[in-house]
Amino acid sequence: MKSLKINTGINGNPIIPGDKSISHRSVIIPSISNGVTEVTNILKSEDVIHTINAFKSMGVKIEDSGNNIVIHGNGLNSLAMPKKELYLGNSGTSARLLIGLLSSQSFDSKITGDKSLSSRPMKRISDPLSKMNASIKTTSGCLPVFIKGKELVSSNIDIKIPSAQIKSGIIFAAINTEGITKIIEHNITRDHTEIMLEAFDAGISVKKVDEKSIIEITGKKELVSKDIDVPSDLSSSAFFIVAALIHKNSNIILRNININPTRNGLIIALMKMGAKINFFNTRTKNNEAVSDIEIVDSNLNGCELGPEIAKLMIDEYPILSVAASFANSPSIFRGLSELRVKESDRLELIRLNLTNCGIDCKVIDDDLYINPLNKKKVGNVDIVTNYDHRIAMAFSILGSKLCAVNINDSNSIKTSFPTFVDEFNKVGGKIV
Ligand code: S3P
Repeated sequence: MKSLKINTGINGNPIIPGDKSISHRSVIIPSISNGVTEVTNILKSEDVIHTINAFKSMGVKIEDSGNNIVIHGNGLNSLAMPKKELYLGNSGTSARLLIGLLSSQSFDSKITGDKSLSSRPMKRISDPLSKMNASIKTTSGCLPVFIKGKELVSSNIDIKIPSAQIKSGIIFAAINTEGITKIIEHNITRDHTEIMLEAFDAGISVKKVDEKSIIEITGKKELVSKDIDVPSDLSSSAFFIVAALIHKNSNIILRNININPTRNGLIIALMKMGAKINFFNTRTKNNEAVSDIEIVDSNLNGCELGPEIAKLMIDEYPILSVAASFANSPSIFRGLSELRVKESDRLELIRLNLTNCGIDCKVIDDDLYINPLNKKKVGNVDIVTNYDHRIAMAFSILGSKLCAVNINDSNSIKTSFPTFVDEFNKVGGKIV
């Protein structure tokens, strides 16, 4: 696909689909609860469909109708052994969360994924689970992963890597394990799992102390089903927010956006850069903070961000780098090592593609430097995405401002935002 430069503003009300992280949890948690859950506005992207299919193949009755599904849960131990391996496509969230959940079930299972997922680290989840006596065999640290389901033992676990996927995988193992499991998370990361489990009456308590989160899970307490209305995804909104900021004469309104404070680093960063973003109609839905947001084109300044904000916006660096490329001064984003183990090595792909687009940037250690004052003129650039959806969408937005770009393997967008192209073209974009 090709994204062409536009000379108009971005205007209107693009529809942002349901949040990906919350959608995964809206399948997993109701599937092991007692009762019927109706989930509305669920994201029907490839990643979430893999999670839905995994639970269907473990015997859970899930009625599907577009963006709404109904899940019939039968309790913590009601899952059936899948007849074949669970193939999870590109979805790191499905893999890490399911490895945890399945390690405490009474059957064995095998998890596989696509080329990108098969090269991502899985020991970061199997190692802490082995402290609970889990029996998980990786393939040189990656997928395929073989899980021997069994009764685990509760334990105290420290998580040093800032990762909600690791934390959530351990929580899902702990809710089916006798006794109290205590998790100390040294960096606070997105807390959708804890929030939703609280709503489902799980035995979970969370204390946030300085930069740490201390989570205690009392295992074997049955969960009680609750209907869920999934808010729209801030990470998907990010492409539209930045597009509106960098194109003159823009004004967009995004409705029903999740602004959970463990996820809102992009907003903080952009406001620090001088972005005009207004929040209205802010409310709480299923324990999640939600708001409508208006974005107006703005003169952005560069900024320096430390590693402490990275965990609050880890998926947003590709599009933040695009914003920084059109700011009035240089930016430095520090402490981005986790970007190297996402759907692609995002730090390297940001550097490579910005450089190919004529933007002065460099990576030193895990820090990214962008100098927007020193642009070379280029045209018709090929964007290398390595099948990474967020790289594909971020550089489509860059193309709309700078020059025509060809996005390779753009099919990856279906991973998180199947309607991205239509929505962007509806508000003034030109993707062909
Ligand atoms: C996610 C957590 C993040 C994020 C991913 C979704 C989740 O990964 O990058 O897109 O839903 O828990 P890490 O927790 O590994 O950083």
